Amino acid sequence: MKFFIDTANLDQIREAQDLGVLDGVTTNPSLMAKEGITGRNNILKHYVDICNIVNGDVSAEVIATDFEGMVKEGEELAELHPQIVVKIPMIKDGVKALKYFTDNGIRTNCTLVFSAGQALLAAKAGATYVSPFIGRLDDISTDGLELIADIRLIYDNYGFETQILAASIRHTMHIINCAKIGADVMTGPLSSIEGLLNHPLTDSGLKKFLEDYKKGN
Ligand code: E4P
Repeated sequence: MKFFIDTANLDQIREAQDLGVLDGVTTNPSLMAKEGITGRNNILKHYVDICNIVNGDVSAEVIATDFEGMVKEGEELAELHPQIVVKIPMIKDGVKALKYFTDNGIRTNCTLVFSAGQALLAAKAGATYVSPFIGRLDDISTDGLELIADIRLIYDNYGFETQILAASIRHTMHIINCAKIGADVMTGPLSSIEGLLNHPLTDSGLKKFLEDYKKGN
């Protein structure tokens, strides 16, 4: 399973990269705004800065919602750096744009996916990644993990190569359950990745080992 971090915060990206388990980064317009990155040139520069920190794919989202606009913006984003994956929303023109980018060798991440039907369309259009938002489904009392399982089944039935990128991850159990189901990638906050480290028996066991060592030395 690949681990992506879902942030535009350079310090957190560095911290995850230093841990040695990071495979990529996802961003979205809200995450960029949260870091105070505004204005086209600053946004483009920020994507390059992210690419220079991480070894792996960096999703950069288009703002346009019409086919021509998405193609223009996506091509500009893809030219920024070979690690860029163009993030396209699951709307009608988005599906057309996914197909255009597939045909032109530009990698894509289909975002804002909330149903198996949408994921099927994204795969048909050749998306590199599909991003089902499981946390946001859980927020409205709908089982996000069930969606990941449905998409896994459908993609395996037909051998679709689109990678399932479980997004909107909120906590460690999302990651573990997505890994059990067979999601190809997960993207979450640094806290969800670092949370995997924790176990009280590790802490108490290490404490005891160090105490015992001190007794004998
Ligand atoms: C995915 O690419 C999105 O950026 C992200 O996972 C959305 O997560 P949220 O629901 O926590 O905003």
